Amino acid sequence: WQQHAPYIERINRLKKSRNAVILAHNYQAPEIFHGVADIVGDSLALAKKAAETEADVIVMAGVHFMAETAKLLNPGKIVLMPDMAAGCSLAESIRPEDIRLLRETYPDAPVVTYVNTSAAVKAESDICCTSGNAVEVVESLGAERVLCLPDEYLAKWVATQTKVKILSWAGHCEVHERFTPDEIRRFRRAYDNLIVIAHPECPPEVIAVADFAGSTAKMIDYVRNEKPARVLMITECSMSDNIAAASPATEIVRPCIMCPHMKKITLPKILTALETLEPRVEVDPAIADRARLAVERMIAVGR
Ligand code: 13P
Ligand code: SF4
Repeated sequence: WQQHAPYIERINRLKKSRNAVILAHNYQAPEIFHGVADIVGDSLALAKKAAETEADVIVMAGVHFMAETAKLLNPGKIVLMPDMAAGCSLAESIRPEDIRLLRETYPDAPVVTYVNTSAAVKAESDICCTSGNAVEVVESLGAERVLCLPDEYLAKWVATQTKVKILSWAGHCEVHERFTPDEIRRFRRAYDNLIVIAHPECPPEVIAVADFAGSTAKMIDYVRNEKPARVLMITECSMSDNIAAASPATEIVRPCIMCPHMKKITLPKILTALETLEPRVEVDPAIADRARLAVERMIAVGR
């Protein structure tokens, strides 16, 4: 922690003078999550908080699609992305033209896109969702079948939670697709009384052997509320580090798989972004209004 302290101090000072807010996803490294973030959470919480902020500058300590979402909801504000190369395998898996083709094939099916997509893809969809509200969003549409894109595994998990017929795509999260049921069985053999909680971006056969599945925020709530003596968190491993101190009654067992995109964000890059007010995320005005509508419709669900 000592090597981080000078950066943390400078960032927190500069943040005030810039009237900036730092949003950090649950997968950020602990020195960012605990050291400089003003708002932490899952993709849904970050989108909602981005819509509410009164700061002039938003720094996204997350990945590019999260910064784009913040910019969509705050077109007049400066949105900084400390490393523009922090992408996401799900966002890479689908293009706007793919959605236009799917609409021709399934004209009766509304298109729900995961927030883990580009603004251009959001602009082609009816509504967005996150893993925290996907079932609610799908059911809010009153349709018999829904295209749930691009995460195949999230779509399959949603299908187990609703009577709506779910059509999917073949996108995967490069972190969660690596977990296997065998690995979970090995952990269960090695640790007595192990509660396994998994993210719905995991393959269905992994979720099938877990005790609970939910978004990162729901996984955190599970540990906070149920206080299991021992838990295995099947998700990006920084999340376990971030919540360990707040859950002293729970032993957190975890295999460590990191998201290489999230880990591109570092304290020195956040400091540089605040000093230079660069790099800024912009959204093409030709798509921004339609993409914003899809995100705002999602935020309105459940209100
Ligand atoms: P949530 O935080 O919404 O569960 O999303 C997980 C994720 O992989 C974000 O990139
Ligand atoms: Fe994308 Fe997966 Fe990384 Fe999340 S953890 S940003 S879904 S690659």
